[in-house]
Parts: sequence; structure tokens; C-alpha cells
Amino acid sequence: MKRAAAKTFQTGVVFGLFISLCGTGIAFAAVKSFEYGNVLMSQPEKDNTALPVTFRHWSHRGKYTCRLCHVDLEFSQLANGTGVMEEDNRNGMYCGACHNGKEAFALEACTRCHPKDKQHEQELAQQAKREFQELKKTLPPATYGNKIDWMKAEEDGIIKPKDFLQGVSLRKSEKMVNSREEPRTPALPGLPNIIFSHAKHVVWNGCGMCHPDTFALESGKTPITMKEITEGKFCGRCHGNIAFALNDCTRCHSKPVLNPGS
Ligand code: HEC
Ligand code: HEC
Ligand code: HEC
Ligand code: HEC
Ligand code: HEC
Ligand code: HEC
Repeated sequence: MKRAAAKTFQTGVVFGLFISLCGTGIAFAAVKSFEYGNVLMSQPEKDNTALPVTFRHWSHRGKYTCRLCHVDLEFSQLANGTGVMEEDNRNGMYCGACHNGKEAFALEACTRCHPKDKQHEQELAQQAKREFQELKKTLPPATYGNKIDWMKAEEDGIIKPKDFLQGVSLRKSEKMVNSREEPRTPALPGLPNIIFSHAKHVVWNGCGMCHPDTFALESGKTPITMKEITEGKFCGRCHGNIAFALNDCTRCHSKPVLNPGS
């Protein structure tokens, strides 16, 4: 009875949200689960003898935290923002920090990253798809994105993302902790509040992936709209791209409007 009522409430909220989005002209491109979070790395101006390199988040994010790659290894959070050079890799930066024959397969296996031709590119994609399906079987399911519930996988201890790489990461004497929740009231009346949970983000993202560049260090000081989110800004830099998809409205718009002081 209670569950049914909650369900009706949820369906109503989702329906309402969709109606309001129709008005703003927001639409989502459908991305296949095994391609969700793939980044095509290609600098056409460089002497790239081979075709673009596909970096796959799903094959890496269960093994390492976002922070390790995007803060310690300085990978950009924008496709093609890093400008990886072959020499950098050989000097142990970027992909080369791990693809050294110890942590992961060695750089000498050029064609595991650089396809030889269009046909080989498709073969690599097919192989990756099969590996994805195998991995997916071992992890808890979700409805959107990779269709994998990464948070549950981490909470259940099925994956243990490393947050430290010998010789690259600095040993942090004390871990920064912030488990505050930041409530946001959407600009549209009637919409449930969004609770941004630090506790849930810090495991994966540390602090540097969001502060100070994306979010002000003061609650309520960053103006955010849903339109900007769907354009890849703010929460949308990760959600709808790597972290759970934006179709999952009620994972963010989950709680009814808060009582002050509760
Ligand atoms: C672990 C994956 C990986 C392996 C293995 C790898 N590369 Fe790359 N390489 C990259 C990435 C990523 C880029 C950047 C692509 C871009 O942004 O266009 C790149 C860029 C390049 C570039 C263009 C940039 C520049 O420095 O001129 C060349 C040339 C290159 N690699 C050659 C090689 C050769 C030769 C090998 C084998 C000895 C190799 N790579 C092995 C990932 C890899
Ligand atoms: C093993 C390293 C690695 C891990 C772990 C990793 N990333 Fe990335 N990420 C990359 C690379 C490489 C790129 C492409 C950068 C480029 O093209 O210059 C990228 C790109 C991105 C982008 C831009 C994508 C686009 O299409 O514009 C975002 C956002 C991002 N990552 C977020 C995350 C989040 C969130 C996590 C954790 C859930 C994460 N990354 C984990 C290496 C990593
Ligand atoms: C923090 C460590 C780390 C970094 C950085 C990293 N990788 Fe990997 N990568 C791994 C590990 C571990 C595996 C799985 C073990 C193996 O295959 O050797 C892997 C597997 C892969 C695979 C095979 C699975 C798949 O996704 O198809 C490819 C291709 C690959 N990496 C490309 C890259 C490229 C390109 C970069 C840089 C843009 C990169 N990796 C950066 C650790 C890393
Ligand atoms: C995934 C993104 C993300 C990560 C990671 C993150 N934060 Fe935040 N932080 C936010 C958002 C969103 C807000 C609210 C901003 C707003 O409402 O304008 C916020 C607000 C804050 C505030 C302001 C609270 C107040 O009293 O006004 C502080 C302080 C803060 N974060 C510290 C941290 C620290 C320390 C870490 C690392 C342990 C961290 N954050 C990691 C997104 C993040
Ligand atoms: C730097 C990347 C990044 C940014 C920016 C970011 N998130 Fe996340 N968020 C993640 C990752 C990674 C997870 C872990 C789950 C996953 O990957 O699907 C997560 C998890 C969550 C969860 C928990 C879902 C659950 O099932 O409990 C919520 C809710 C959430 N984010 C909301 C937000 C909101 C709201 C914002 C903007 C104020 C935001 N996030 C900004 C990366 C990010
Ligand atoms: C990753 C978290 C996240 C997801 C998923 C998400 N939203 Fe939002 N949404 C937000 C945040 C943050 C705001 C801004 C709140 C504020 O004003 O501070 C917002 C605001 C809104 C608003 C208020 C008007 C505006 O433009 O600010 C509407 C309407 C909305 N969202 C609809 C939706 C719908 C419909 C979906 C699903 C298709 C959805 N949202 C999915 C985080 C999310």
C-alpha cells in the first residue's frame, strides 16, 4: 500500500519532469551501454599514423578512482583536452603511467590502442563489446548508462578502485573528508529538492575534480539549470557521460521539498 503510493508519487514526478523538459526542448541521444563513457581521442593535426584511440571508462573505472586519473595523472575532463603525445606515454605520463607492462599491457602493443585500419578498428570494438558483456555479468545492474550500478558494486566490495599509484600519487598524510549534504531547490515550483551528497561523491572524485573549477566552495552559490546540465556543464560533466545517465531523473530529483531545519 505504502509502496504503491510511493510508486504513484514517483511516476507522477517523472511524468511531470518530462512534461517540463518537453517545454525546454531537452532531448537525450541514445548511447549503447557498451559505448557509454567511451572517449574518442584524436588530434588530427598531429602526425597520427593510426586512427583515433578509443579510451573506455567502463574498463578502467572499476579498477581506479576518477581522481587518480583526472587529478594525479592530469587527464583532462574534456574529450581531447589532454593532448597526449607518444613521448609523454614513453616518459611514464598519461596512459604510459600504467601501460608499462607491469600495471597493464605495455606500450609496445601499439595496435591494442591504435587500430591498423578501419576494419581493425571494428574488430577492436567488437572485442571490447564482448569483454563488456562479460564484465557486466559480474556487476549489479542499473537501468541507464552502462546499465551497471557502479556505486553498489563499490559498496558491496565487488570492485575496489585504487586511489594510489606508486611513483605518481602523493601519499596523503590525512584524507580530506567532507560528508555534508548540499540541498538545492530547483527553480521550477513543485519540483522536489535535489540533495547533493558529498559522501557519495568523494569516494570516486576526491575534491579536485569539482573544486574550485566547477562548483563554488559555498552552498547555493553556483547557479545551475537543467539545460546547462544537459549541455554537459556542472553535474552534466560527469552525469550523462561517465556517471549514471541523466534519464535517471529521480536519482537526483529524489526527495520531496525539505522542511526547514530537518
Ligand atoms: C595504452 C594505449 C596506447 C598504446 C599501447 C600506444 N599508444 Fe600511441 N597514443 C595513445 C593515445 C591515447 C594517444 C593520443 C591520441 C590523440 O589524442 O590523438 C597516442 C598518440 C600517439 C601518436 C601521436 C602523437 C605524437 O606523439 O605524435 C603517435 C605517433 C603514437 N601514439 C604512436 C604510438 C606507437 C608507435 C606505439 C607503440 C610503440 C603506441 N603509440 C602505443 C595511446 C597509446
Ligand atoms: C584510467 C584513467 C581514467 C579513469 C579511472 C577515469 N577517467 Fe575520465 N577520462 C580519462 C581519459 C584518458 C579521458 C579522455 C581525455 C582526453 O581525451 O584528453 C577522460 C575523459 C573524461 C571526461 C570527458 C569526457 C567527454 O566526452 O568529454 C569526463 C567527464 C570524465 N573523464 C570523468 C570521469 C569520471 C567521473 C570518472 C570516474 C567515474 C573517470 N573519468 C575515471 C581517463 C580516466
Ligand atoms: C591508472 C592506470 C591506467 C591508465 C592511466 C590507463 N590504463 Fe588502460 N588499462 C589499465 C588496466 C589495469 C587495464 C586492464 C589490464 C590489461 O589489459 O593489461 C587496461 C586496459 C586497457 C585496454 C584494453 C581494454 C579496453 O578498454 O578495450 C585499452 C585499449 C586501454 N587500457 C587503453 C588505455 C588508454 C588509451 C589510456 C590512456 C588514454 C589508458 N588505457 C590509460 C590501466 C590503465
Ligand atoms: C562531484 C563534485 C564534488 C566533489 C567531488 C566535492 N564537492 Fe564540495 N561541493 C559540491 C557541490 C555541488 C557543492 C554545492 C555548491 C553550491 O550549492 O553552489 C559543494 C559545496 C562544498 C562546500 C561548501 C559548503 C558550505 O558550507 O557552503 C565545501 C566546503 C566543499 N564543497 C568541500 C569539499 C571537499 C573538502 C571535498 C573533498 C573531500 C569536496 N567538496 C568534494 C561538489 C563537489
Ligand atoms: C566529477 C564528476 C561528477 C560531478 C561533477 C557530479 N557527479 Fe554525481 N556522481 C559521480 C560519480 C562517479 C558517481 C558514482 C555513481 C556513478 O558513477 O554512476 C556519482 C553519484 C551521484 C549520486 C548518487 C546516486 C545514488 O544512486 O545514490 C547522485 C544523487 C549524484 N551523483 C548527483 C549529482 C549532482 C546533483 C551533481 C551536481 C550538483 C553531481 N552529481 C555532480 C560523478 C559526478
Ligand atoms: C545528476 C543529477 C540530475 C539528474 C539526473 C537530473 N537533474 Fe534536473 N536538476 C538537477 C540540478 C542540480 C538542478 C538545478 C537545481 C537548482 O536550481 O539549483 C536541476 C533542475 C531541474 C529543473 C528545474 C528547471 C531548471 O532548468 O533548473 C527541471 C525541470 C529538471 N531539473 C528536470 C529534470 C528531468 C526531467 C530529469 C530527467 C530526464 C532530470 N532533471 C535529471 C540535477 C539533475
